[in-house]
Amino acid sequence: MQDLAAARALVQAAGGRPGALCVLTGAGMSAESGIPTFRDALTGLWARFDPAELASEEGFRAQPQRVWDWYAERREGVRRAEPNAGHHALAGYARLWPGTLVLVTQNVDDLHQRAGNADAIRLHGDILADRWLQPCPRRPGCRPVDASPGRPPHCGECDNLVRPGVVWFGEELPAPALAAARRASENCAVMLVVGTSGAVWPAAGLVSRARQRGAQVLIVNPAPSEIDDQAHRVLRGTAARTLPLLLDSPRAGA
Ligand code: APR
Repeated sequence: MQDLAAARALVQAAGGRPGALCVLTGAGMSAESGIPTFRDALTGLWARFDPAELASEEGFRAQPQRVWDWYAERREGVRRAEPNAGHHALAGYARLWPGTLVLVTQNVDDLHQRAGNADAIRLHGDILADRWLQPCPRRPGCRPVDASPGRPPHCGECDNLVRPGVVWFGEELPAPALAAARRASENCAVMLVVGTSGAVWPAAGLVSRARQRGAQVLIVNPAPSEIDDQAHRVLRGTAARTLPLLLDSPRAGA
Protein backbone atom coordinates (compact mmCIF):
# COMPACT_ATOMS: atom_id res chain seq x y z
CA MET A 1 0.00 0.00 0.00
CA GLN A 2 2.87 2.37 0.83
CA ASP A 3 4.30 2.19 -2.71
CA LEU A 4 0.89 2.92 -4.21
CA ALA A 5 0.32 5.97 -1.99
CA ALA A 6 3.80 7.33 -2.71
CA ALA A 7 3.44 6.71 -6.45
CA ARG A 8 0.03 8.35 -6.45
CA ALA A 9 1.43 11.41 -4.67
CA LEU A 10 4.14 11.76 -7.35
CA VAL A 11 1.68 11.41 -10.23
CA GLN A 12 -0.84 13.81 -8.72
CA ALA A 13 1.90 16.36 -7.92
CA ALA A 14 2.92 16.31 -11.59
CA GLY A 15 -0.54 17.55 -12.58
CA GLY A 16 -0.47 21.01 -14.18
CA ARG A 17 3.25 20.96 -15.00
CA PRO A 18 3.90 20.72 -18.77
CA GLY A 19 5.44 17.39 -19.76
CA ALA A 20 5.98 16.38 -16.13
CA LEU A 21 4.52 12.89 -16.59
CA CYS A 22 5.84 10.61 -19.33
CA VAL A 23 4.04 7.29 -19.66
CA LEU A 24 5.52 4.36 -21.60
CA THR A 25 3.12 1.50 -22.34
CA GLY A 26 3.52 -2.00 -23.72
CA ALA A 27 1.33 -4.96 -24.61
CA GLY A 28 0.33 -5.55 -20.98
CA MET A 29 -1.66 -2.30 -21.20
CA SER A 30 -4.10 -3.99 -23.61
CA ALA A 31 -4.05 -7.49 -22.10
CA GLU A 32 -7.25 -6.91 -20.10
CA SER A 33 -8.92 -5.74 -23.33
CA GLY A 34 -8.35 -9.22 -24.72
CA ILE A 35 -5.32 -8.46 -26.93
CA PRO A 36 -2.54 -11.01 -26.33
CA THR A 37 0.90 -9.83 -25.23
CA PHE A 38 4.05 -11.05 -26.99
CA ARG A 39 6.18 -12.76 -24.37
CA ASP A 40 3.83 -14.03 -21.69
CA ALA A 41 4.38 -17.77 -21.41
CA LEU A 42 1.63 -19.78 -23.15
CA THR A 43 -0.61 -16.85 -24.12
CA GLY A 44 2.06 -14.58 -25.68
CA LEU A 45 2.16 -14.37 -29.49
CA TRP A 46 5.85 -15.26 -29.61
CA ALA A 47 5.15 -18.31 -27.45
CA ARG A 48 2.90 -19.57 -30.26
CA PHE A 49 4.35 -18.06 -33.44
CA ASP A 50 7.83 -17.42 -34.84
CA PRO A 51 8.51 -13.65 -35.02
CA ALA A 52 11.14 -14.18 -37.74
CA GLU A 53 8.42 -15.68 -39.96
CA LEU A 54 5.60 -13.28 -39.09
CA ALA A 55 7.20 -9.98 -38.02
CA SER A 56 10.07 -9.43 -40.45
CA GLU A 57 10.36 -8.26 -44.05
CA GLU A 58 12.12 -11.50 -44.97
CA GLY A 59 9.27 -13.52 -43.49
CA PHE A 60 6.70 -11.47 -45.40
CA ARG A 61 8.56 -11.83 -48.71
CA ALA A 62 8.82 -15.58 -48.14
CA GLN A 63 5.14 -16.09 -47.24
CA PRO A 64 3.16 -12.91 -48.06
CA GLN A 65 -0.27 -14.54 -47.85
CA ARG A 66 0.35 -16.27 -44.53
CA VAL A 67 1.71 -13.10 -42.95
CA TRP A 68 -1.10 -10.98 -44.40
CA ASP A 69 -3.74 -13.39 -43.05
CA TRP A 70 -2.09 -13.41 -39.63
CA TYR A 71 -2.27 -9.60 -39.45
CA ALA A 72 -5.81 -9.64 -40.77
CA GLU A 73 -6.75 -11.88 -37.84
CA ARG A 74 -4.95 -9.63 -35.34
CA ARG A 75 -6.69 -6.59 -36.86
CA GLU A 76 -10.05 -8.24 -36.24
CA GLY A 77 -9.04 -8.80 -32.62
CA VAL A 78 -8.14 -5.12 -32.25
CA ARG A 79 -11.43 -3.97 -33.83
CA ARG A 80 -13.40 -6.21 -31.44
CA ALA A 81 -11.45 -5.00 -28.36
CA GLU A 82 -12.45 -2.06 -26.17
CA PRO A 83 -10.21 0.27 -24.14
CA ASN A 84 -10.03 -0.87 -20.49
CA ALA A 85 -10.13 1.12 -17.23
CA GLY A 86 -6.38 1.72 -17.53
CA HIS A 87 -6.72 3.35 -20.96
CA HIS A 88 -9.60 5.47 -19.67
CA ALA A 89 -7.64 6.54 -16.56
CA LEU A 90 -4.79 7.85 -18.76
CA ALA A 91 -7.25 9.71 -20.98
CA GLY A 92 -9.02 11.15 -17.93
CA TYR A 93 -5.75 12.41 -16.46
CA ALA A 94 -4.81 14.02 -19.80
CA ARG A 95 -8.18 15.79 -19.94
CA LEU A 96 -7.84 17.02 -16.34
CA TRP A 97 -4.24 18.21 -16.76
CA PRO A 98 -3.81 19.28 -20.42
CA GLY A 99 -0.13 19.17 -21.46
CA THR A 100 1.15 17.31 -18.38
CA LEU A 101 1.01 13.78 -19.78
CA VAL A 102 3.12 12.64 -22.72
CA LEU A 103 2.03 9.12 -23.72
CA VAL A 104 4.52 6.93 -25.58
CA THR A 105 3.33 3.51 -26.69
CA GLN A 106 4.90 0.42 -28.18
CA ASN A 107 1.42 -0.89 -28.93
CA VAL A 108 0.15 -1.05 -32.50
CA ASP A 109 -3.53 -1.23 -31.47
CA ASP A 110 -5.68 1.93 -31.32
CA LEU A 111 -7.04 1.58 -27.78
CA HIS A 112 -5.21 4.61 -26.37
CA GLN A 113 -6.54 6.71 -29.23
CA ARG A 114 -10.07 5.34 -28.83
CA ALA A 115 -9.96 6.14 -25.10
CA GLY A 116 -9.09 9.75 -25.91
CA ASN A 117 -5.29 10.00 -26.13
CA ALA A 118 -5.25 10.91 -29.82
CA ASP A 119 -1.73 12.35 -29.51
CA ALA A 120 -0.10 9.19 -28.19
CA ILE A 121 3.39 8.74 -29.69
CA ARG A 122 3.43 5.42 -31.59
CA LEU A 123 6.90 3.90 -31.60
CA HIS A 124 6.04 0.65 -33.39
CA GLY A 125 3.45 1.82 -35.90
CA ASP A 126 -0.24 1.13 -36.41
CA ILE A 127 -1.60 -2.35 -37.15
CA LEU A 128 -4.76 -0.92 -38.78
CA ALA A 129 -2.73 1.12 -41.30
CA ASP A 130 -1.48 -0.17 -44.68
CA ARG A 131 1.69 0.83 -46.46
CA TRP A 132 3.68 -0.28 -49.51
CA LEU A 133 6.41 -2.87 -49.04
CA GLN A 134 8.80 -0.77 -51.12
CA PRO A 135 8.86 2.76 -52.51
CA CYS A 136 7.37 2.86 -55.97
CA PRO A 137 9.77 3.97 -58.73
CA ARG A 138 6.99 5.18 -61.04
CA ARG A 139 4.94 8.40 -61.15
CA PRO A 140 2.08 8.38 -60.27
CA GLY A 141 2.97 5.66 -57.74
CA CYS A 142 1.43 2.31 -57.02
CA ARG A 143 -2.29 1.82 -56.95
CA PRO A 144 -3.47 -1.09 -54.84
CA VAL A 145 -5.64 -3.80 -56.35
CA ASP A 146 -7.60 -6.08 -54.08
CA ALA A 147 -6.15 -9.26 -52.63
CA SER A 148 -6.48 -12.25 -54.92
CA PRO A 149 -6.27 -15.92 -53.84
CA GLY A 150 -2.79 -16.50 -52.45
CA ARG A 151 -1.80 -12.83 -52.70
CA PRO A 152 -2.22 -9.85 -50.36
CA PRO A 153 -3.30 -6.53 -51.92
CA HIS A 154 -0.66 -5.46 -54.43
CA CYS A 155 -0.01 -2.97 -57.22
CA GLY A 156 -1.58 -4.09 -60.48
CA GLU A 157 1.36 -2.78 -62.46
CA CYS A 158 4.55 -3.47 -60.52
CA ASP A 159 3.46 -6.16 -58.04
CA ASN A 160 4.54 -4.05 -55.10
CA LEU A 161 2.86 -5.60 -52.02
CA VAL A 162 0.77 -3.85 -49.36
CA ARG A 163 2.01 -4.59 -45.83
CA PRO A 164 0.73 -3.66 -42.36
CA GLY A 165 2.00 -0.27 -41.06
CA VAL A 166 3.91 -1.77 -38.12
CA VAL A 167 7.64 -1.77 -37.34
CA TRP A 168 9.06 -5.25 -37.92
CA PHE A 169 12.14 -6.74 -36.27
CA GLY A 170 15.31 -5.33 -37.83
CA GLU A 171 13.55 -2.15 -38.96
CA GLU A 172 14.13 1.41 -37.80
CA LEU A 173 11.55 3.12 -35.65
CA PRO A 174 9.87 6.21 -37.19
CA ALA A 175 12.48 8.93 -36.51
CA PRO A 176 10.04 11.74 -35.52
CA ALA A 177 8.27 9.46 -33.00
CA LEU A 178 11.55 8.26 -31.47
CA ALA A 179 12.89 11.82 -31.20
CA ALA A 180 9.67 13.00 -29.52
CA ALA A 181 9.74 10.04 -27.12
CA ARG A 182 13.35 10.74 -26.18
CA ARG A 183 12.58 14.41 -25.53
CA ALA A 184 9.62 13.43 -23.36
CA SER A 185 11.72 10.97 -21.32
CA GLU A 186 14.43 13.62 -20.82
CA ASN A 187 12.00 16.36 -19.73
CA CYS A 188 9.66 14.46 -17.40
CA ALA A 189 9.69 14.49 -13.58
CA VAL A 190 7.88 11.14 -13.38
CA MET A 191 8.28 8.19 -15.81
CA LEU A 192 5.38 5.74 -15.47
CA VAL A 193 6.04 2.42 -17.21
CA VAL A 194 3.03 0.15 -17.76
CA GLY A 195 2.83 -3.40 -19.09
CA THR A 196 6.15 -3.83 -20.84
CA SER A 197 8.79 -6.54 -20.42
CA GLY A 198 11.46 -3.99 -21.37
CA ALA A 199 12.87 -6.60 -23.77
CA VAL A 200 12.88 -4.41 -26.87
CA TRP A 201 15.14 -1.45 -27.65
CA PRO A 202 15.28 1.45 -28.22
CA ALA A 203 11.91 1.72 -26.39
CA ALA A 204 13.26 0.16 -23.17
CA GLY A 205 16.14 2.69 -23.17
CA LEU A 206 13.70 5.55 -22.57
CA VAL A 207 13.38 4.43 -18.94
CA SER A 208 17.08 4.64 -18.05
CA ARG A 209 17.26 7.92 -20.01
CA ALA A 210 14.54 9.40 -17.76
CA ARG A 211 16.16 8.07 -14.59
CA GLN A 212 19.57 9.46 -15.57
CA ARG A 213 18.00 12.89 -15.88
CA GLY A 214 16.51 12.71 -12.38
CA ALA A 215 12.98 11.48 -13.05
CA GLN A 216 11.21 9.22 -10.56
CA VAL A 217 10.57 5.89 -12.31
CA LEU A 218 7.38 3.96 -11.47
CA ILE A 219 6.59 0.53 -12.94
CA VAL A 220 3.16 -1.13 -13.11
CA ASN A 221 3.45 -4.83 -13.97
CA PRO A 222 2.05 -7.98 -12.33
CA ALA A 223 5.36 -9.77 -13.05
CA PRO A 224 9.08 -8.89 -12.99
CA SER A 225 10.42 -7.11 -16.10
CA GLU A 226 13.89 -6.55 -17.54
CA ILE A 227 13.84 -2.90 -16.41
CA ASP A 228 12.73 -3.29 -12.78
CA ASP A 229 16.23 -2.24 -11.72
CA GLN A 230 15.52 1.22 -13.14
CA ALA A 231 12.46 1.71 -10.94
CA HIS A 232 12.16 3.74 -7.74
CA ARG A 233 8.85 1.98 -7.09
CA VAL A 234 7.35 -1.18 -8.61
CA LEU A 235 3.57 -1.74 -8.31
CA ARG A 236 2.76 -5.45 -8.77
CA GLY A 237 -0.64 -5.08 -10.32
CA THR A 238 -2.46 -4.92 -13.63
CA ALA A 239 -2.97 -1.85 -15.80
CA ALA A 240 -6.79 -1.82 -15.58
CA ARG A 241 -6.80 -2.18 -11.78
CA THR A 242 -3.78 -0.06 -10.83
CA LEU A 243 -3.92 2.96 -13.16
CA PRO A 244 -7.30 4.26 -11.91
CA LEU A 245 -5.89 4.11 -8.35
CA LEU A 246 -2.86 6.12 -9.47
CA LEU A 247 -4.35 8.58 -11.93
CA ASP A 248 -7.96 9.25 -11.00
CA SER A 249 -8.12 12.62 -9.31
CA PRO A 250 -10.39 13.38 -6.34
CA ARG A 251 -11.50 16.38 -8.42
CA ALA A 252 -12.39 14.10 -11.36
CA GLY A 253 -15.74 13.14 -9.74
CA ALA A 254 -16.60 16.72 -8.53
N1 APR B 1 -1.29 -5.26 -16.86
C1 APR B 1 0.01 -4.80 -16.86
N2 APR B 1 1.05 -5.54 -17.34
C2 APR B 1 0.77 -6.77 -17.81
C3 APR B 1 -0.54 -7.32 -17.83
C4 APR B 1 -1.59 -6.49 -17.33
N3 APR B 1 -2.86 -6.90 -17.31
N4 APR B 1 -0.49 -8.57 -18.36
C5 APR B 1 0.81 -8.80 -18.68
N5 APR B 1 1.57 -7.73 -18.34
C6 APR B 1 3.01 -7.54 -18.53
C7 APR B 1 3.83 -8.80 -18.57
O1 APR B 1 4.23 -9.20 -17.27
C8 APR B 1 5.02 -8.40 -19.44
O2 APR B 1 6.08 -7.87 -18.64
O3 APR B 1 3.18 -6.95 -19.80
C9 APR B 1 4.46 -7.28 -20.33
C10 APR B 1 4.29 -7.64 -21.79
O4 APR B 1 5.57 -7.84 -22.32
P1 APR B 1 5.75 -8.22 -23.87
O5 APR B 1 4.81 -9.26 -24.23
O6 APR B 1 7.21 -8.44 -24.08
O7 APR B 1 5.28 -6.89 -24.65
P2 APR B 1 6.08 -5.53 -24.89
O8 APR B 1 7.00 -5.23 -23.76
O9 APR B 1 5.10 -4.52 -25.26
O10 APR B 1 6.95 -5.93 -26.19
C11 APR B 1 7.74 -4.94 -26.79
O11 APR B 1 8.19 -6.37 -28.63
O12 APR B 1 7.36 -8.01 -29.97
C12 APR B 1 7.72 -6.69 -29.94
O13 APR B 1 6.96 -4.87 -31.25
C13 APR B 1 6.56 -5.76 -30.26
O14 APR B 1 5.94 -3.68 -29.16
C14 APR B 1 6.35 -5.01 -28.94
C15 APR B 1 7.71 -5.09 -28.29
